[in-house]
Amino acid sequence: MAIRVADIQDLPALAALEEASFVCDGVDRRAMAGFLRSLAAVVLLDEAQGVLRGHLILRFNSGHRIARVYSIAVAEAAKGQGIGRALVQCAEEVACRRGSERVRLEISVDNLASQALFRACGYAVFGHYEDYYEDGGDALRLEKRISN
Ligand SMILES: CC(C)(COP(=O)(O)OP(=O)(O)OC[C@H]1O[C@@H](n2cnc3c(N)ncnc32)[C@H](O)[C@@H]1OP(=O)(O)O)[C@@H](O)C(=O)NCCC(=O)NCCS
Repeated sequence: MAIRVADIQDLPALAALEEASFVCDGVDRRAMAGFLRSLAAVVLLDEAQGVLRGHLILRFNSGHRIARVYSIAVAEAAKGQGIGRALVQCAEEVACRRGSERVRLEISVDNLASQALFRACGYAVFGHYEDYYEDGGDALRLEKRISN
């Protein structure tokens, strides 16, 4: 895996992968630019020969020791090769270095692939939001403790 922190030069590829990965609730180009410039977010990406294979947006909330996976996406042709897992593990290392004790995220109740990924990485469901997404769908809240 060639995971690194993304910068503003990566914006076109990151926005394109979001658009290809989510029918609704994806991160648009403007929001992605905001994350790339924000001190309260880290965008990680995996690439091979200069081609983006996957990315993960991690957000931090000052005053809380909880980091949040805001988005994760792996390109269709690169799925099933461990890239999602590697991005999650790298995000946990970054969160730990920034002093976070837990990582949380929301996943659609219908998104079985993402649920399987995060369960495989040690995340557990601790809550449920109704009517969470633009289309009215529900979300599961997952969490992992990353420090003792
Ligand atoms: C969810 C997603 C990021 C997974 O990425 P990936 O690189 O294909 O996942 P990995 O290859 O790292 O898989 C790691 C583990 O996750 C689980 N998993 C991943 N995809 C799965 C699937 N389609 N079905 C069942 N389990 C799956 C497996 O346990 C897998 O381990 P294994 O290969 O040893 O069985 C990818 O499918 C994706 O981009 N989906 C569209 C965007 C999305 O839904 N993002 C999540 C929003 S919360």
